[in-house]
Amino acid sequence: MTQRLVLIGFRGAGKTTLGTELASRLGLEYCSTDKLIEHRIGTSIAEFVTEHGWTEFRRIEHGVIQNLPQTPVVIDCGGGVVESEANMQLLANNSVIVWIDTDVEDIVQRLSTADNAHRPLLSTNSGGDMRTDTLANYERRKPMYERWSQMRVNTSQQTLEHIIHTIAERLIHSDHNI
Ligand code: S3P
Repeated sequence: MTQRLVLIGFRGAGKTTLGTELASRLGLEYCSTDKLIEHRIGTSIAEFVTEHGWTEFRRIEHGVIQNLPQTPVVIDCGGGVVESEANMQLLANNSVIVWIDTDVEDIVQRLSTADNAHRPLLSTNSGGDMRTDTLANYERRKPMYERWSQMRVNTSQQTLEHIIHTIAERLIHSDHNI
C-alpha cells in the first residue's frame, strides 16, 4: 500500500471506531487529528473551544494537518476539516479520501447521548439546540464531503464488520494504490 487512507465525515458518523479497526486490519498506523490537537492544546477540544472559540481551534487544526505523516497511515479527521480548502488540499495529497456518512437522524441520536453531551455546538445561530445545529451543518457540509471523497460509505444500520469489508473490497477493486 502506498497511499494514505483519510476518513472524513460528520461528527458521530463512527470515524474513530472505524479508523482504529481499519488501521489494525491493514497493519497501518492510526492518526486522529482530534487527538493530535488535544495533545497540542493540553486540554479537551470542548474546553478549548469554550474558552478560545472555533477560529482558534481551526488554526490549530490546520497546523496539525500540515504535520501529518506522508507515509501510508489511516488518518481520522475531525468533522469540520472540510471547512478549509487548504486543509483538504493537504489531505488530498497521496491519499484515498473516504466519506464516512450516516443518516443525519442517527447522528442526532448519537449526539444526544450523555457521552456526547460535552460537544460544543458548531454554530451560534442554532438557539442552543443540538438538533438544529446538526441538521443545518450536516446539510451545509454534505457537498464538501462529496466533493473531496473518492468513496462514500454509509454506516447506518451496518455492523462494523460489514463496513470494514465494504471499504476493503472497494479499495481492492478500485484503481487506488492501497
Ligand atoms: C468538529 C468535529 C470534532 C472535532 C471538533 C470540531 C466539527 O471531531 O474536530 O469538535 O467541526 O464537526 P469529530 O468529527 O471526530 O467528532
